[in-house]
Amino acid sequence: MDPIDKIKTDRAEARKLSDPNADTCFLALADKNGQASVRTLVLREIGDRHFVLFLNRTSPKWKLLEAGAGYELLIWYPSRQRQYRVQGSLVELDSSIVNVNWLRRPQGSKYLDYVYQEMAPQSSKLNNRQQLVEEVQRLKQVYKIDEMHAPTAVGGVQLVASRIEMLDLNRDDRIHDRQLFTFADGQWAAQVLVP
Ligand SMILES: Cc1cc2nc3c(=O)[nH]c(=O)nc-3n(C[C@H](O)[C@H](O)[C@H](O)COP(=O)(O)O)c2cc1C
Repeated sequence: MDPIDKIKTDRAEARKLSDPNADTCFLALADKNGQASVRTLVLREIGDRHFVLFLNRTSPKWKLLEAGAGYELLIWYPSRQRQYRVQGSLVELDSSIVNVNWLRRPQGSKYLDYVYQEMAPQSSKLNNRQQLVEEVQRLKQVYKIDEMHAPTAVGGVQLVASRIEMLDLNRDDRIHDRQLFTFADGQWAAQVLVP
């Protein structure tokens, strides 16, 4: 069984069920000292074997990834009662792909990317919220939304999966199903685990 097909099917079902997690995932990172951090991200696309995320290069998570942090992506669809933990290798997306996709971002997110570029890196400290509000107002005066393009710091990655662990709580017999899928020699192999 291809676990990515399963995730795609679950995601489609989750969308139909208005699952608030249908379009998101959670990226956990561990720095070289073992300090963990986790954040919600929009799961932009699921390919044959990969998961696409958009991140800003000014952010702490990007710096952590550049520094070789450990990572795992978690997907949890409450409406389907299924959790997936994904590991693999990260590949940076070509800027042409990022730039085209960026144009479809909501207005607020576009201005925030300009904030990171022109005012301060993502996640940096501000004296107060008013500073941010004024900067967004200034940017709105300077840049018309239809003429904006992705700043150079906008980045994207695809996580090419080689290990996916599924936990399925949605079983008729009420006994959870946990399976580890590993990709080798062009195919997925499944191993049942104690849930
Ligand atoms: C529903 C939701 C979706 C989000 N999507 C993204 C996203 O696609 N990319 C992103 O960089 N941050 C996204 N965020 C914000 C991140 O969770 C995080 O707060 C931010 O990226 C800063 O992370 P960092 O300080 O660890 O780098 C999202 C947050 C929520 C609640």
